Amino acid sequence: MNRTSDHILVIFGASGDLTRRKLIPALAELKKLKLLPNNFAVLGIGRTVYSDSSYRDMISSHLEERSDVLEMLYYHAMDPEKSEDYPGLQKRLEELKGQLKIDANYIFYLATPPSLYGVIPTSLADIGLLSEDNGFWKRVIIEKPFGTDIDSARELNSSLLMQLKEHQIYRIDHYLGKETVQNVLVTRFSNGIFEPLWNRNFIHHVEITSSESLGVGTRGGYYDHSGALRDMLQNHLLQLVGLVAMEPPTVISSDAIRNEVLKVFQSFRTIEGEDIERHVIRGQYISSHVRGESMAGYRDEKGVPGESRTETFVAVKLFIDNWRWGGVPFYIRTGKRLPNRVTEIVVHFNPTPHTLFASEGTGNRNQLVIRIQPDEGILLKFGMKEQGAGFKVQEANMDFLYKDLSDSYIPEAYQRLLLDCMQGDSTLYARGDAVEAAWRFVDPILKAWQNDPAIPLHGYPCGTWGPEMADSMIEGAEYTWRYPCKNLADDGLYCEL
Ligand SMILES: NC(=O)c1ccc[n+]([C@@H]2O[C@H](COP(=O)([O-])OP(=O)(O)OC[C@H]3O[C@@H](n4cnc5c(N)ncnc54)[C@H](OP(=O)(O)O)[C@@H]3O)[C@@H](O)[C@H]2O)c1
Repeated sequence: MNRTSDHILVIFGASGDLTRRKLIPALAELKKLKLLPNNFAVLGIGRTVYSDSSYRDMISSHLEERSDVLEMLYYHAMDPEKSEDYPGLQKRLEELKGQLKIDANYIFYLATPPSLYGVIPTSLADIGLLSEDNGFWKRVIIEKPFGTDIDSARELNSSLLMQLKEHQIYRIDHYLGKETVQNVLVTRFSNGIFEPLWNRNFIHHVEITSSESLGVGTRGGYYDHSGALRDMLQNHLLQLVGLVAMEPPTVISSDAIRNEVLKVFQSFRTIEGEDIERHVIRGQYISSHVRGESMAGYRDEKGVPGESRTETFVAVKLFIDNWRWGGVPFYIRTGKRLPNRVTEIVVHFNPTPHTLFASEGTGNRNQLVIRIQPDEGILLKFGMKEQGAGFKVQEANMDFLYKDLSDSYIPEAYQRLLLDCMQGDSTLYARGDAVEAAWRFVDPILKAWQNDPAIPLHGYPCGTWGPEMADSMIEGAEYTWRYPCKNLADDGLYCEL
């Protein structure tokens, strides 16, 4: 493991939800595990006025247990949009450095509204705080969303690259921080049994689902400008496709892995024209009763316009035009108010070429399910002889649950990602070229939806697996989506909510 050198972590947006709910708890855990450097401080920045001690009190009230990390927290009130406020920040950093004997290494974490992702680095660069000329490192972590379409993503990348080198920029995709997502690489590339089958000759199709049972809650105003395609598919789900579909990297290094992911993104077949209606299904949840509870439709949620056409569900059939995957469809879907909160990858292998044994159900038997959350693990489905006379086949499951591997808990994504950034490892962060390539795939769909009101937006009742149209998009009479339950090994249409 790389050494984590002394530094100050400066969090812009320190009074916000992300800092309270994710960043500080992740730091508290790192502190507990003794993974923070000896000389270290967190400087929270926001317009809200706090003293160091009232900021610690506010944060402490949100922590489940008291943490030593609280003593490492400091606060500086300023408006990050005002360039005249930055010399004050510089002075405060100098004071902290002197007082705590910390080297001039900085991480600047932008946990603010995205409208500030350009102005903060520019203002920091103007007063020399991003310069690495003095031999100390400077890194900037940027939260999602990284742009809202291809043009804004390009603009943001080029604005950042005017102030920073690519190796200084850490674009968070918290899915990549999940242990089970990283396990996709280990499963594929540390075993000799999967990789020989991992191609168009043996795989019929790949399915990726990321479902949520919750609706938009109090975030309707934000979500209505985003939608499922931008909020989930463009980033998290395409990153999963990248890891499932990439070629083996030559070494485990940030550039080697991210080069292979980029090649996958560059091989996505553009969906345009009539294919948009055929290969992309969008939906919006409508009110219904689920287990006796009445659930509001999306348009009735707080902050959502009554005529909103924002999608809360999207399913896409995509092709990767390269030698490994030519002709193999990847079906990916995500949505809110679905029956369960589940993220999983299902690799469907080809059926046998000839049916020898009578069996119940379909010949679509061999599936490898990689469960990202919950009930993290891996499941292989195959056929076994039913006991008794004849040769009847029944389906059997072989499963491995992550929790059986060790007693230690699965670390939170932000904990891993923050530590990686502290150690200068950007493997699990998205690179600028890949982010743009992902937007390039999504952009024609967004444009078509904007410009052609005739493209349907299907309503689906809360608590169902999305529009019926999406059910029939997987081609082949024998195939349908897996309808995942909370428990990895159970599947069916009627899982418990
Ligand atoms: N919350 C999550 O779980 C989550 C997950 C993924 C990504 N993100 C991303 O992380 C970023 C922060 O999210 P959040 O949920 O923490 O948001 P939030 O609760 O609204 O906090 C944002 C913070 O930014 C500060 N801020 C500074 N200048 C601002 C300005 N001009 N206008 C508004 N606020 C300003 C605000 O503090 P002051 O008012 O004190 O200045 C506020 O505390 C967003 O880009 C979001 O998309 C959040």
